[in-house]
This record gives sequence, structure tokens and C-alpha cells, in this order.
Amino acid sequence: MEELVYLNGSLLPRSQAHISVFDHGFLYGYGLFETMRAYHGKIFLLERHLNRLLSASLVLDLGSKLNAAELGTACRDTLVANNLENARLRLTVSRGEVNSFPEPSLGNNPTVLVTASDYSPPPPETYAKGFRAGVASFHRYSQSPILRLKSTSYLLNIRAKLEAEAAGLDESMFLNEHGFITEGSISNLFLVTPTSSLVTPPVESGLLPGITRQVIMELAASLGIDVVESEVKLTDLRQFEEAFLTNSLREIMPLIEVRESNDKITSIGSRTPGPVTRRLMAAYKEMVEQHTSR
Ligand SMILES: Cc1ncc(COP(=O)(O)O)c(C=O)c1O
Repeated sequence: MEELVYLNGSLLPRSQAHISVFDHGFLYGYGLFETMRAYHGKIFLLERHLNRLLSASLVLDLGSKLNAAELGTACRDTLVANNLENARLRLTVSRGEVNSFPEPSLGNNPTVLVTASDYSPPPPETYAKGFRAGVASFHRYSQSPILRLKSTSYLLNIRAKLEAEAAGLDESMFLNEHGFITEGSISNLFLVTPTSSLVTPPVESGLLPGITRQVIMELAASLGIDVVESEVKLTDLRQFEEAFLTNSLREIMPLIEVRESNDKITSIGSRTPGPVTRRLMAAYKEMVEQHTSR
């Protein structure tokens, strides 16, 4: 059966779902999105994702018509309509069709799209091996208002990801204008100190406050692991015993090395997923089960 997508109030076969060529999401990247994961037919942390999108929609004047209850129903309906249990969902909201260049006062017709498809995470071997990351060839400005929002303007992230792929690496890390590491092209970063505390770059350094990042901070607190939000430079990396990257789809992915453009490689700890990372991976899986098992 053809995949069904939710578009502006209707569930439609994907071949019949169309948006306007004047949609400002398409023309200007004027939109927001959330990527979520469903386990056992239930969307994990849906409310947190909706809250992030709705707060950002106020900042961007994306349309006062949006509300959490309707967006939540749209996401759940799309999952059910496609008969999916373990899935990735994407909720996209754009400014919709507006006659002239973005003018906040003109129109209030956001485009709302939800798509869902089957999702299997990378195999256990990938988690056991860990990721190798590069460093983006350009800096991002810590004060950019866009980095803190999950906007559809993803060109810098795509560019960084392409650089990583070209170098045969799994992810690309961003530095800000002061040379501090902020996050990956599609992930947040955590490091583990020799005394088993967690360090993660602060939002003020210019990054997306990930939902998984927040959950990891809460899980760590409940496990008695200290978490510090602190700025980290590439030259600091060798002091850490473990590192991992987080996002909603891949959850916690161990990071074993960072390679700079001059091919200088910094290995992290023993280049294998360490005990703190493994403890958090298990705690995260347990939390997923608690929230989603029937
Ligand atoms: C740039 C960036 N940072 C962080 C994340 C992690 O966010 P979350 O944990 O909400 O999925 C993502 C997710 O795709 C991202 O694109």
C-alpha cells in the first residue's frame, strides 16, 4: 500500500500530497521540523518535541493556528494510518503561502506535514565500533538565532555532513567563532571526564538544545552522574575518557575519534564505548521501554 502522509488536515497517499510553489518553507527555508522515533507504536517524547516546535514557532511567527493537541493527533494518526510500530516520524511546519517576502502580519496559513516510515537503528556492531567524526571546515556564529531552533534551513548542517562523508567519516563537528566545539551536524556531544562526570557544550555556544541531550542530562542526574555544561576546545579532547553523540533516531552513539582537516586524529579514551556511555545507553533503553511498552 502507498505510504500515507498528513498534509494540512488530511491523510493522503504521498503521490497526491502537494504544497504550493509559493510556500515560504520551499522558497526561503522558513519553517521548523521535528524528527521523532516511535517504539511499539508509540511516539517517544512527543510532547517535548511539540513543545520545542511550538516555542520556536512563536519566535519565528509561524502561525498562531498551531496547537499541540492537533499536531499531536496528526502525528499519531499518521503512524496508525501507516500501520507502523517502530518508525521515524517527521513533523514539518512551514510559513505556508504568503504573497510577498516574509511579512509577519500577512496571512496565517502554515503548512503542516507529517510523514512516517519504518525505522531500524544502526546494527549493534555500529554502536560497538563507535563513530569517527571530522570537523566542519567553517565556523558557526554562537549568537545565530537559527542554531537554537530546529529550522528547515539546514544548509550548513548538510554541507558539514557532506564534508564528513567525503572524508569517509560518520559525523562532522562544528566549532563556533571562538574555536569551541558546539555539536555535530545532526547530533549533540557529550564527553566523560576521568572522574566519570559528563561535560556537554552549553546552548550559548550555539547549538540545538536536543531533546535527547535533555533526557541524558536528566538520566545522568538520576544515576548520580554529575553533568557540567562547559566549553570544550579540540585541544581539550584528549583529556576525556569517553564521548558520545545523541539524537532522537540513533539515541546514544559512542564517538571514538575526532579528525581535523590537517588529518590530526585525537582518539578518545580507549576508542571503545566506555562504562559511563554504556550505562547511559542502558538507562535510555529502559526509559524508552517504560514510556512505550504496552
Ligand atoms: C544540529 C542538531 N543538533 C542536535 C540534534 C539532536 O536533537 P534531538 O535529540 O532533539 O533529536 C539534532 C537532531 O537531528 C540536530 O540536527
